Amino acid sequence: MSAKVVVGTQWGDEGKGKIVDVLADKADMVVRFQGGDNAGHTVVVNGKKHVLHLLPSGVLREDAACIIGPGVVCNPFVLLKEMETLEKSGLSTSHIRISDRAQILMPYHCYQDELEEAAASNKIGTTKRGIGPCYQDKYARKGIRYHEFIDFDTFEKRLRENVAMKNKLFTAVYGGKPMDADEMVEQFRQIYDRIVPMIVESTHLVNEAIDEGKEVLFEGAQAAMLDINYGTYPYVTSSSPTSAGVTVGAGVAPSRLDQVIGVVKAYSTRVGEGPFVTELEDETGEWLRKNGFEYGATTGRPRRCGWLDLVVVRHANMINGLTDIVLTKLDVLDGLDEIQVCTGYEIDGRLQNYVPSDQADVARAKPVYTTLPGWKEDITKMRTWDELPENAKKYVEFIEEFTGVPVSMVSVGPDRENNIAHNDRLD
Ligand code: GDP
Ligand code: IMO
Ligand code: MG
Repeated sequence: MSAKVVVGTQWGDEGKGKIVDVLADKADMVVRFQGGDNAGHTVVVNGKKHVLHLLPSGVLREDAACIIGPGVVCNPFVLLKEMETLEKSGLSTSHIRISDRAQILMPYHCYQDELEEAAASNKIGTTKRGIGPCYQDKYARKGIRYHEFIDFDTFEKRLRENVAMKNKLFTAVYGGKPMDADEMVEQFRQIYDRIVPMIVESTHLVNEAIDEGKEVLFEGAQAAMLDINYGTYPYVTSSSPTSAGVTVGAGVAPSRLDQVIGVVKAYSTRVGEGPFVTELEDETGEWLRKNGFEYGATTGRPRRCGWLDLVVVRHANMINGLTDIVLTKLDVLDGLDEIQVCTGYEIDGRLQNYVPSDQADVARAKPVYTTLPGWKEDITKMRTWDELPENAKKYVEFIEEFTGVPVSMVSVGPDRENNIAHNDRLD
């Protein structure tokens, strides 16, 4: 298998970063294809924690080329900071490249995100990293791409034009302050020498790597329920964090993808606003938050917690074409007498087994639960399928049966080593 995609199947924070790091062990290239530094991926290696926002989590495997793909909205200041943090930990960053087609996420995008959220009556609860405004400009064909940065004079002209337009919007519509274009030009001049050597035409590099039978790993940020088309719109992000997103965001044809790996957390979490059918606003929800340490890696916000929603996972399977599931954080459920799994929605007295498009319907949906028995053992030290308690195995098998997708790996702790293979599909 040469081209693998890792995607989130819920509302993000499933543990994609950890799984990408594990799978990147054998990769020759790791590619981000959408989103930006709204992502927060925590990778733990030998007890040391690394939090990545823009860089693919495979960056810690220094032998693999590391590409920020065309579909990414990349804040260069955040990128350099992240690289400096890695360098301070003694890690190499010389294998990082940015696609010349990627959008430059500008300081005015972050300010716009803040102003739009403050003014909205229907707040999304964004990460305020400028993601929505940057994608707005991209699709309005007003964005600035990395290839335009190379000729600084042209870049400066584009920046000044855009700042002039944005300042009208900020002051006249939102009652905000104008931004200082001179200062912004200077900030970009300061980073020119570090950014420009990283800019490449990545699409041919990625396709050639696949042609040569190299192992290429595409890392999705966010997740299916945050997808701009198929998520809980408008409470979504502004990109396509799905296997289809790879084709547009990395320039790789759909027929070239060999494996689509969906990361499923053993329960559900969500940060930000929007309906959440299995949310638990009681002591069980609090218990999950504490046990799973469910606090946002990007914003520090407490994550909303609830039972596993298999209607959502089935939806994620449908739009992604999952070939494999990696089930994460199963260890967090250790100690429960019973575990609930949502297998359907009841909406106005009718049973529905798929995710509605209208958030008003989702908000009215009541979860239909199947109760499964829990287990008392601490599973974090277990490394083989046979060691797992019978009820933990039953939980995994229930997910496989319901979704029709093999659970190829179970993650039982945050470290690189805390994994249990269930078959040899990810070897
Ligand atoms: P991502 O955004 O999908 O990469 O996920 P995050 O990194 O935001 O959140 C997942 C959190 O759970 C991180 O703190 C991980 O270190 C941690 N984690 C990942 N897998 C496991 C696991 O199997 N068990 C436990 N207990 N923690 C895990
Ligand atoms: P990872 O990759 C969880 C959520 C925000 C908000 C909505 C829109 O770590 O799984 P945005 O800033 O993208 O415009 O915010 O999407 N969100 C995430 N939630 N994990 C993420 O990434 C997220 N990225 C964005 O909280 O509700
Ligand atoms: Mg995260």
